[in-house]
Amino acid sequence: VTDAVADPRALLLSRIRDVPDYPKPGVLFKDITPLLADPVAFTALTDTLAELCRRNGATKVAGLEARGFILAAPVAVRAGLGFIPVRKAGKLPGATLSQAYELEYGTAEIEVHAEDLTAGDRVMVIDDVLATGGTAEASLQLIRRAGASVAGVAVLMELGFLPGRTRLQPALAGAPLEALITV
Ligand code: PRP
Ligand code: MG
Repeated sequence: VTDAVADPRALLLSRIRDVPDYPKPGVLFKDITPLLADPVAFTALTDTLAELCRRNGATKVAGLEARGFILAAPVAVRAGLGFIPVRKAGKLPGATLSQAYELEYGTAEIEVHAEDLTAGDRVMVIDDVLATGGTAEASLQLIRRAGASVAGVAVLMELGFLPGRTRLQPALAGAPLEALITV
């Protein structure tokens, strides 16, 4: 266990690498692998997100496949809460709920095991990036359809030049959207 970092946001920002023209020309990709490779930064991220879970009364932590898994699983352990994988379609063996959502081109679908959420659960959704908000919005719909309530959405990075926050407002229904960094 490391000591608390004085300014976790500055540390986190310093460990995100800008990759121009990835995955296609004109896109500036925000690469979180330097952050994951730095145990002080990764611990600071985990501790900050776990504190958000506590502050918002979460009973479960949901991670959005794939990058959200990397962030959310240690947060669940640190916060002493169960972990719920929200998977891309076709990966879960049990009784699932599915939610389709719009991508820039085409549609995608995510799924959750319905039985792992109960009416008493308050779920904190964790992902690396909020871009258009489509993935997070679909996850909130899944959580509500499973009968649970939403403690909030917490992301490492919000892309402030995209309207994800606005799009997410109806699905949040008053729950907080916490972005540690806005780029
Ligand atoms: C990326 C990112 C977020 C999502 C944000 O996931 O990790 O989950 O897009 O975009 P949105 O707000 O427009 O929905 P992606 O599925 O591209 O890749 P991953 O499997 O590596 O997480
Ligand atoms: Mg993702």
